[in-house]
Amino acid sequence: MYQHHFPAVYNNKQRHFFDNASTTQYCTTAIETTSMLDNLPRSNITRGIYKEAEIISEYYEQARQTIAKLIGAKAHEIIFCRGTTEALNISARCLTENLKKNQAVLITDAEHHSNFLPWIELCKQKNLQLYRLPVDTNGAIDLSQLTNFEDKNIAILSITHCSNVTGVISDISLIKKWCIRNNIILVVDGAQMIQHDIPNVSNLDADVYCFSGHKVFASSGIGVLYAKEKLLEKWQPIMWGGGMVLDMPMLNSSELDNSWLKIPQKFEAGTPPYQQAIILSHTLKWLASLDQQALHKHHQSLLKKTNTLLQKYSFIDIIHHSNLPRHPIFAFNIHHLHPHDAAHLFNELGFCLRAGHHCAKPLMKSLHIHACLRISLSCYNTLEELDLFEDALKTIYQHSQKFLTC
Ligand SMILES: Cc1ncc(COP(=O)(O)O)c(C=O)c1O
Repeated sequence: MYQHHFPAVYNNKQRHFFDNASTTQYCTTAIETTSMLDNLPRSNITRGIYKEAEIISEYYEQARQTIAKLIGAKAHEIIFCRGTTEALNISARCLTENLKKNQAVLITDAEHHSNFLPWIELCKQKNLQLYRLPVDTNGAIDLSQLTNFEDKNIAILSITHCSNVTGVISDISLIKKWCIRNNIILVVDGAQMIQHDIPNVSNLDADVYCFSGHKVFASSGIGVLYAKEKLLEKWQPIMWGGGMVLDMPMLNSSELDNSWLKIPQKFEAGTPPYQQAIILSHTLKWLASLDQQALHKHHQSLLKKTNTLLQKYSFIDIIHHSNLPRHPIFAFNIHHLHPHDAAHLFNELGFCLRAGHHCAKPLMKSLHIHACLRISLSCYNTLEELDLFEDALKTIYQHSQKFLTC
């Protein structure tokens, strides 16, 4: 249904890409935009007073406006950066800058390392308390425990919108209400949400929202850091260089603070990944132009079929069972087979599956496992591929049984 938009998918029908939480295939719009830009005369953005520079600068600012409109933000609230990891690092650094020693940060045990490590490091450097909201026995973030943190002087809550291991979608509206009641800034890691459902940051009322281009059919090396204007205005840049300063106060560093350009330029020192930003904006525009209801229905049918399929076999341990809203991401283990061996065998049979801790070691620890297999499906995956996957699964299990008995 969607495969014809993805040349690497329809030209490789013998391979089945089931690792879309890790990265996604390029869509035709991304490929065509790349080619269009490669054929333009090259010029840096904003620096030149000539036609070529003006054209590319216009494309770049248009990209910002397009993305802002699609996610319900203002254009100057969009900071282009390398990806979710960089966006989370910038936010963590800026948000913790002025916290007092008695203030704390709350994250959850379901976070990707990218939403764990920056907070651990900065809380250590600044002597701040870091708390973790636990997951339930099923691996879902346990929102019922939020009340236990109300007397902890939490200033920031940073949480994933969708888990990269269980696919469970966090109830941001409930979380935001709790944040408002407790005067807490809400940072949302949207890395796993973006390909399934383009967020509307105004409706979510997230203070900060981050995502990556490569997880939504566009290039790597580009990401979006959205933050509310009032935050960006207050934050100090954490990178310094060309294109972000109004005046150069030579050696008098005390004048520097008043010299930054306005947002968003203040946060985009140096030559930004402008081509990738343009590719991302065209890709998101294309994605938003699809029938969103049909897209959602397709994701849900992939989800339902995978769930039924995995539950059929007693030799499979599914990591997360629930009726919580989720995207088609499944973690599981096959009895008596190490996930790395299983992923290797799946590869032999044409399937790209991820195995390991999925950069979510705290979650693995909570679930008392070291590693697991993961299927993460995207719009170009089909129900027929899941039938083939079931055959491969049975073959692999039979193979592993032979290995056990010899
Ligand atoms: C939930 C989540 N957050 C953050 C990241 C980091 O994204 P990136 O590597 O694009 O910076 C990932 C990547 O898999 C992720 O799944």
